[in-house]
Amino acid sequence: MIKIAIIGGTGVYDPSMLTNLSEQTVTTPYGDVTFKTGDYNGKTVAFIPRHGSKHSIPPHLINYRANIWAMKKIGVEHIVATTAVGSLNRDMKPGDFVIVDQFLDFTKSRVTSFYEGGWRGVAHLDVTEPYCPYLRNIVKEASEELGISVHETGTYVCTEGPRFESPAEIKMFEKLGGDLVGMTNIPEATLAREAEMCYSTVSMVTNFAAGISPNPLTHGEVVETMAQNAENIKRLIMKTIDMIDVSHTDCLCRRAMREYGGFRLEEE
Ligand code: HPA
Repeated sequence: MIKIAIIGGTGVYDPSMLTNLSEQTVTTPYGDVTFKTGDYNGKTVAFIPRHGSKHSIPPHLINYRANIWAMKKIGVEHIVATTAVGSLNRDMKPGDFVIVDQFLDFTKSRVTSFYEGGWRGVAHLDVTEPYCPYLRNIVKEASEELGISVHETGTYVCTEGPRFESPAEIKMFEKLGGDLVGMTNIPEATLAREAEMCYSTVSMVTNFAAGISPNPLTHGEVVETMAQNAENIKRLIMKTIDMIDVSHTDCLCRRAMREYGGFRLEEE
């Protein structure tokens, strides 16, 4: 069974840290998902580049439900994701890593739930603690072991994209308590919670957000900053994977849908 998955964001397309690589396709009710699997220090890990291996899928068209459903289907229990973000917080600078602990959802057109009535019914997910506390702590411990400094908390504002934000939007997000802005973490994180999987994301600041940065934003700048820090984000993710105890099951994430009889992939 593959118990751990990496969902790689912008700039993290390359599973070369894994050995014995192979490709798998899983059919889901939402479409097929093709991903790589490979080994790292005795653990088998699945790897999905969220935007496709050549950054061909824009944030608003990512098949979030298919990706999470496919990972659940193959037995994954822990997902460690990476996200490239702009920063609204002057203390979180380009190149910094943040272990996000809260989100503000400003997406507009995405299907955000597996629960759409029908046999699965209707459910109202609790997101008091939206990111897995166990995994967040492991990322923090991994960063300490590697001597990579991280911000231990941060609020991720998820926008619809694919455009960047206006300075007025960024000012509003700042007033609302946002630290970082990105286009992909919701509904990925909340779907993983609905599927009762442990999920956390390591955000990497690639730029100051619009109106804070002195220059207009470019995707090239985002990719370039990711590339400069790619080695460190890979080291952090792989150390995290090394430190995950795959027998760890006592987590609020695993009981998220208890009130609704637990999450099931298919009608029984
Ligand atoms: N805004 C939205 N998404 C992003 C940004 C940004 O400034 N930087 C990287 N991803």
